[in-house]
Amino acid sequence: MSNSEDPLGPVKKQGQEREILIDGGDRRILAQGSICDLRLSFSMQEWQRFAMSHNSFGHLFRVTTFGESHGPALGCVVDGCPPGLALDESDLQPWLDTRRPGQNRFVTQRREADRVQILSGTCAENPGEKPRTTGTPIALLIANEDQRSADYDAIKTAFRPGHADYAYWAKYGFRDPRGGGRASARETAARVAAGGVARLALAALYGESLRIRGALVAMGGDAIDRANWDWAACGENPFFCPDRDAALRYERLLDDARKAGSSLGAVVEIRAEGVPAGLGAPLYGKLDSDLAGAMMGINAVKGVEIGSGFALAAMRGEDAADEMRMGSDGGPVFRSNHNGGVLGGISSGQDIVVRCAVKPTSSILIPRRSVTQDGTETMIRTTGRHDPCVGIRAVPVAEAMMALVLVDHALRHRAQTGMSGPLGHFGNPE
Ligand SMILES: Cc1cc2nc3c(=O)[nH]c(=O)nc-3n(C[C@H](O)[C@H](O)[C@H](O)COP(=O)(O)O)c2cc1C
Repeated sequence: MSNSEDPLGPVKKQGQEREILIDGGDRRILAQGSICDLRLSFSMQEWQRFAMSHNSFGHLFRVTTFGESHGPALGCVVDGCPPGLALDESDLQPWLDTRRPGQNRFVTQRREADRVQILSGTCAENPGEKPRTTGTPIALLIANEDQRSADYDAIKTAFRPGHADYAYWAKYGFRDPRGGGRASARETAARVAAGGVARLALAALYGESLRIRGALVAMGGDAIDRANWDWAACGENPFFCPDRDAALRYERLLDDARKAGSSLGAVVEIRAEGVPAGLGAPLYGKLDSDLAGAMMGINAVKGVEIGSGFALAAMRGEDAADEMRMGSDGGPVFRSNHNGGVLGGISSGQDIVVRCAVKPTSSILIPRRSVTQDGTETMIRTTGRHDPCVGIRAVPVAEAMMALVLVDHALRHRAQTGMSGPLGHFGNPE
């Protein structure tokens, strides 16, 4: 970007310092990427523009993840969790177990226990009591136990088409090829652990009626029959698929793709029920834009829709508008949910519905054309252990992202309005 295009005003280099002149002559100095002069007040947008490393997520419930695929461990720090929540590892482990690799032939064969350890931020008031959050940062650690870095020798200097190898190298000039380094979805284990903490905080704020669930609703272009939807089925097959018939088809589909050295894409749907009306903010803190950003931030997600999403573009106004009537409990109810539970960037009290398009795994055995770091054209056949359909394990990750966005908005709503819940009661179609 040239100086004249910079919305913050002209930029000039001074040795190691980058000097930015703001309208009116105010001045901020960035030295080697850090902000040294904090006299001016920053809007959140401006702050994020300067935050170089982007490993943190959320505003009041803020998660910073660390670690890569083949390092000794990965984890996160959850900052801003309300105090007093009963929390130990047993609250988080079940969520991690749903994302864990190596559980069947349809996911990567990497063997990781994904045991989470809480390092800080909780304390038992009396001996023998369950620890409770203290309101201080909660550090969560998950060891990497089954790295096989030699599998990645072939991509030390060549770029896997469709993976992040080239983009990381182009940006940083240096990359960790072992398992994809930081671009590996190993990192999402930390998000799932943080999501477990978020779920506890949401339960404390809104009770157990707030429920976040996810499902795989299409694989390889083959969609489920929504009339067959049964949440119980998600726990019975290896795909988190709510349609038992479709799950049987997916077994064959994915076996064929895997044996051919290929991979398949998928669509993941996440629903949050029992979310009160009122979460979200106009205009730059919209709940739906934050959800879309969070879901897009998941590895391999290339499309996100809220409610009826892209189908809305083909609908007529009278069909797309979610009509309202008064319900039996004295609150309004909606007669449809094309808007996915978000109106004007604020939750309407209906189920929040988000779908993610997850691309097929790029690391495949079928040889693909690529180039090396020194500019030589080459062919790449990616060996090693990979998910043949990353959409499957994306389900618990997307559930966690939903929980993280909702808890952050819940705390922001409380901070601004002094209320946890909505002014009025709104509901789903009767
Ligand atoms: C749960 C999960 C597991 C994944 N496993 C693999 C994998 O085994 N091999 C692979 O090439 N990509 C895998 N991915 C996708 C890559 O991490 C992703 O494609 C890569 O970081 C490039 O980012 P992008 O696809 O978002 O552009 C996985 C993604 C998720 C969500």
